[in-house]
Amino acid sequence: MDQRPLGKTGINCSRLGWGAFKIGRNTGTKFPSSYDLPSEEEAVRLIHGMIDLGIDLIDTAPSYGLSEERLGMALKDRRDGVLLSTKIGEQFQDGESHHDFTSSAAVKSLQESLRRLQTDHVDLLLVHSDGHDQEILADEEYIETLLSMKEAGLTRAIGFSGKTPDGSRSAMDWADVLMIEYHPEDRSHEEVIAEAGRKQVGVLIKKALRSGHLSPDEALQFLYHDSPVADHITSLVIGSLSLKRMRANADLLM
Ligand SMILES: NC(=O)c1ccc[n+]([C@@H]2O[C@H](COP(=O)([O-])OP(=O)(O)OC[C@H]3O[C@@H](n4cnc5c(N)ncnc54)[C@H](OP(=O)(O)O)[C@@H]3O)[C@@H](O)[C@H]2O)c1
Repeated sequence: MDQRPLGKTGINCSRLGWGAFKIGRNTGTKFPSSYDLPSEEEAVRLIHGMIDLGIDLIDTAPSYGLSEERLGMALKDRRDGVLLSTKIGEQFQDGESHHDFTSSAAVKSLQESLRRLQTDHVDLLLVHSDGHDQEILADEEYIETLLSMKEAGLTRAIGFSGKTPDGSRSAMDWADVLMIEYHPEDRSHEEVIAEAGRKQVGVLIKKALRSGHLSPDEALQFLYHDSPVADHITSLVIGSLSLKRMRANADLLM
């Protein structure tokens, strides 16, 4: 699969990435229909199948239920060549999200993610914003903590998964990568994506299909080819429990 540079990090990643939410959690979601979680065996087979499709970027988070633990199981002998992205700032317990954007919570969260993922480092660590982007980013100590995690080799790159264009813009001061919602029905981040491209900050797109509410043919034609900022997008991180549908998403790249 085609690769693109992830900003200035020196890391290249596949233009289609996989969001591993659905292997771990099926409550509190915005998908058009409900679904059963795959069994452990099915989840491991799916993870290996995604890598065999040529997808090397896998995105997870502590708030994605069993996702990190299942990725840890599947990748313990296949970690090389896989770019693992996880997050700090949000936990999901007893059916509810809890946010904590303090340095101590960040350190503890990453330690726990590394244990569940059975690895000594991740490739990308993103701040999982609750929408209060500017408040989170105003805390200099928090950003220093992220930079020191990178310095310590616990993550190769750091970034921000925010909800507002202003938040993404502010995060470019220190972020290697931004994770941004962008699709034909929400183009509010278009200028920020162009700015990130000019500054060589990596751009990962979340909810490219508006969590399954858009036609993949139309949304991916736009994001891969027709969007004025298509060249600035490093990778689309699409969620799916189906190898067949992810293969179709990859085929639309051609
Ligand atoms: N705040 C954050 O940081 C944040 C927020 C949201 C998402 N994310 C990341 O972005 C990833 C993607 O977001 P998302 O899952 O909400 O939205 P999405 O990628 O826009 O949509 C996923 C949905 O689209 C369906 N789908 C995928 N390919 C398809 C195809 N070819 N044909 C028909 N349906 C298809 C999937 O269903 P099937 O399973 O049936 O294929 C799934 O329900 C997440 O997994 C996560 O890693 C991050």
